[in-house]
Amino acid sequence: ATKKEEKTVFGPLKDEDRIFTNLYGRHDFKLKGALQRGDWYKTKEILLKGHEWILKEIVTSGLRGRGGAGFPTGMKWGFMNKPDDGRPKYLVVNADEGEPGTCKDREIMRHDPHKLVEGCLVAGRSMMARAAYIYIRGEFYNEACVLQQAVKEAYDAGLIGKNACGSGYDFDVYVFRGAGAYICGEETALIESLEGKQGKPRLKPPFPADIGVFGCPTTVSNVETVAVAPTICRRGGDWFASFGRERNRGTKLFNISGQVNNPCTVEEEMSISLRELIDRHAGGVIGGWDNLLGVIPGGSSTPVIPKSVCEEVMMDFDDLVRAQTSLGTAAVIVMNKDADVIRCISRLMDFYHHESCGQCTPCREGVGWMAKILHRFVKGNARPDEIDMLYEISKQIEGHTICALGDGAAWPAQGLVRHFRPQLEERMAQYHAGQEEKQAAMLY
Ligand code: NAI
Ligand code: SF4
Repeated sequence: ATKKEEKTVFGPLKDEDRIFTNLYGRHDFKLKGALQRGDWYKTKEILLKGHEWILKEIVTSGLRGRGGAGFPTGMKWGFMNKPDDGRPKYLVVNADEGEPGTCKDREIMRHDPHKLVEGCLVAGRSMMARAAYIYIRGEFYNEACVLQQAVKEAYDAGLIGKNACGSGYDFDVYVFRGAGAYICGEETALIESLEGKQGKPRLKPPFPADIGVFGCPTTVSNVETVAVAPTICRRGGDWFASFGRERNRGTKLFNISGQVNNPCTVEEEMSISLRELIDRHAGGVIGGWDNLLGVIPGGSSTPVIPKSVCEEVMMDFDDLVRAQTSLGTAAVIVMNKDADVIRCISRLMDFYHHESCGQCTPCREGVGWMAKILHRFVKGNARPDEIDMLYEISKQIEGHTICALGDGAAWPAQGLVRHFRPQLEERMAQYHAGQEEKQAAMLY
């Protein structure tokens, strides 16, 4: 076994190993501040090393997509490495961050926009793209202004545009604002929206790398994934890969919200334990660790896990899958014993029902059905057999839809049934006991 594989304790991350150094209250997001922080340093040299060299560093780094799915980035960007067939290639940055609980990309665009603009250039070069479109969610108005300003500064300084950084490579960056639909964060719906159509997901294959925006080869990558690329190239893929463990490399932004003393966004080493993350950076659970009920570990689409699982789980792709959940967007939502977990999942289901685009029957009808059952669960006026029915409906949705929204709605319901069945049964028992008392009071 190599030394890396033997490592069992991860984090805390030292300050000098942080990539995003401007997220913590210093608001000098302009070019001058970015240059002082080391952005745009030797970018020309990176570009001149060529697209294969950049791709090799990304592969070496072990970077996996930070938008939720965790697809190996080097492999994905490598899909663009095809013989020229006359069509221009595009990088599309998915900045339509809409997963409830998630605001890491917002923080990057708000405080460190030059990391993203430089990332577009470096990532774009790795796939020989002609331009990048940054698709930013409509609600991020201020962030769109900040980003637009950073793009303008980069153009004015000759860092992007014709002969970017003096490298001989021409590369444009466009900021495109969405109109506030969650589904437009799904990559093919995003592409449709960018083309001026209704944001409805397309069937895959063909994948965007074959037919993407305007029918051209396209890679859609998350903001954080793109923004770390220049630092990986400057410090080396091996440096990034020295954090975390096999298949789960690098540093990562985590959002911690809910019933903690200090909700925050923090960059940490991959594979850090969930407990260490909450205690060290979020000031612990309100009422102490013993007051913890459960955690949604990676944004609303990831199944909730109870305290017993939270005790030992590591924040990475593989360990969270082992725990029957997922890292998703790494947005940790903490619930203590004051929280009503049934109401919480019911609220999320309303969200998915509202945001479904309606193309597939299992999602359109099934998610609404789950939402109705959950409304009854919140009150307790459901039948006990509806617990298994909820699970069964979620299984009929999972894997039977065009896009991942159906899965994203099914998984939270499964987590609730898997870990909180006693609470569901107790709520029903309380409700029915209350009904009997009311009837008895009416009779006598
Ligand atoms: P996916 O697993 O279908 O795809 C991942 C990426 O790999 C895509 O870009 C896809 O085009 C590419 N890919 C996969 N197989 C390929 C192949 N054979 N050839 C070429 N390219 C290939 O997952 P998807 O739908 O992109 O993301 C789902 C995840 O997104 C969910 O698990 C959820 O955690 C997350 N999510 C994040 C949100 C946010 O606000 N950041 C919002 C909603 C969901
Ligand atoms: Fe639309 Fe839902 Fe089907 Fe996705 S799964 S395409 S959101 S109906």
